[in-house]
Amino acid sequence: MSHRSIAIDGPSGAGKSTLAKDLAHEFSFLYVDTGAIYRTVGLAVFRAGIDPKNAAAVGAILPQLSITMGYEADGLQHMYLNGEDVTEEIRLHEISGYASGVSAIPAVRAFLLEMQRKLAREHDVIMDGRDIGTVVLPDAQLKIYLTADSGDRAMRRYRELLARGQSADYETVLRDVIQRDKQDMEREVAPLRQAEDAVLVDTTGVDLEGSRELLRRAIRERFDL
Ligand code: DC
Repeated sequence: MSHRSIAIDGPSGAGKSTLAKDLAHEFSFLYVDTGAIYRTVGLAVFRAGIDPKNAAAVGAILPQLSITMGYEADGLQHMYLNGEDVTEEIRLHEISGYASGVSAIPAVRAFLLEMQRKLAREHDVIMDGRDIGTVVLPDAQLKIYLTADSGDRAMRRYRELLARGQSADYETVLRDVIQRDKQDMEREVAPLRQAEDAVLVDTTGVDLEGSRELLRRAIRERFDL
C-alpha cells in the first residue's frame, strides 16, 4: 500500500516543526524533522573541527558517520550520531550555522536523500524541511510552503532560545535568520523555494493556534479527513 505524504517547506522560524509535530499527532502521521538530520551532520563536522563549507573535508568524514533516528516513549524524534543520542545538542545555537553550511554540500544531500525517502515509503509522513516538496518527495499529495517575515521569525526563535534557558540577543538572532535565509535560498543544490504546486501559508502576525488552523484546514481538504 502506498503511503500518504505531506511536505512542509519554508525558512527557519516559520513554525514548521511545532506545527508539523502537532498535526502529525492529530492525524496519526509520522512526523519527520529533516532539519534535525542536517543538524546531526553539522554537529559531527563541528566536533571534528572541520569548516562546514569545506566540501572535500566534510565529504571525507561522511562514510564514518552513522546517523539514525528513533521515536522514543516521549513521542519525540531522537537523533543518534554513531549511537549517541544527540537530540538536545543539535539544538545549540552554534550548530545551526554548521547545519546550514553542510546542507549546501551536494555530497551531504545525496548521503541523506535515501534515508528520507525510505521513511516516506514506509509510513504516512508529515516531513518538514527546505526541499521536501521540490526534491525529496516531489509526488507528495500535499505540499505546503510555510513562511512569515524575518522579524516575526527571529522573535519566535529568540523566545524559543530563552525558553530553553540559552542566552540570546534579538539583534543577533535576526542577523542569523537573515543570513541563514540567504544561504538556504541561494545555494546551488536544492535551494529553499516554493514548489509550483505548493500551497502558500504566510503566518506573519498569526499566532500558533491560528497557524495550526490554517494547516489543519489544508490537510482536511486534501485528504478528506
Ligand atoms: O529546520 P532547521 O533550522 O532545523 O534546519 C537546519 C538547517 O538544515 C537549515 O539551515 C537548512 C538545512 N536543511 C536543508 O537544507 N534541507 C532540509 N530538508 C532541512 C534542513
